Amino acid sequence: MINKDCERIIISEEQIAEAVARVGKQITEDYRGKEIAFVSILNGAYPFTADVMRKVEVNCTVDFMQVSTYGDSTSSSGTLKIKRDISGNIEGKHVIILEDILDTGYTLHNLTNYLQSRKPASLKICTFIDKPARRTEDVTADYYGFKFEEDLFLVGYGLDYAQKYRNLPYVAVLKPEIYS
Ligand code: IMP
Ligand code: MG
Repeated sequence: MINKDCERIIISEEQIAEAVARVGKQITEDYRGKEIAFVSILNGAYPFTADVMRKVEVNCTVDFMQVSTYGDSTSSSGTLKIKRDISGNIEGKHVIILEDILDTGYTLHNLTNYLQSRKPASLKICTFIDKPARRTEDVTADYYGFKFEEDLFLVGYGLDYAQKYRNLPYVAVLKPEIYS
């Protein structure tokens, strides 16, 4: 049953599972013989992180960061604040950032600069959803689960609206009355 606040399902549970398996396989092939240091961006990326890492067959570590750009609205406030930093050292490591959604690119542009300054051996971006419509920064995803040309505000599978709906096992759009 679809959540009562949702208008329609955009990505089903089955489609998510397929995409996660595909991404896990790509990463496994690209990193054979290496060790990966995943940096997962809380809160949104945790379901994607948990699923993708279990499809990766090379040794890896996982660390977490929490940043904020959005407050509780659906548009960017334009400032990146590090609320929680990674706890490990990434110098000389093969880092893959795991993010829920790449929208304007502001978050990942700033995060990439920040993590680059800690001198990883390599740094790539893996996002569950790539939404290029509103991109303002020069950022591209090395791996993505889904790409949406349409500019829709999505919830579910980690993606929130005002911190809610992260628990939905699918990705959906909300009914307009929910955010008006
Ligand atoms: P960016 O900095 O504009 O690329 O935005 C990235 C962040 O904005 C993501 O980590 C999300 O938290 C949030 N965001 C952007 N689009 C959506 C959406 O469609 N649904 C939920 N959150 C979104
Ligand atoms: Mg968010």
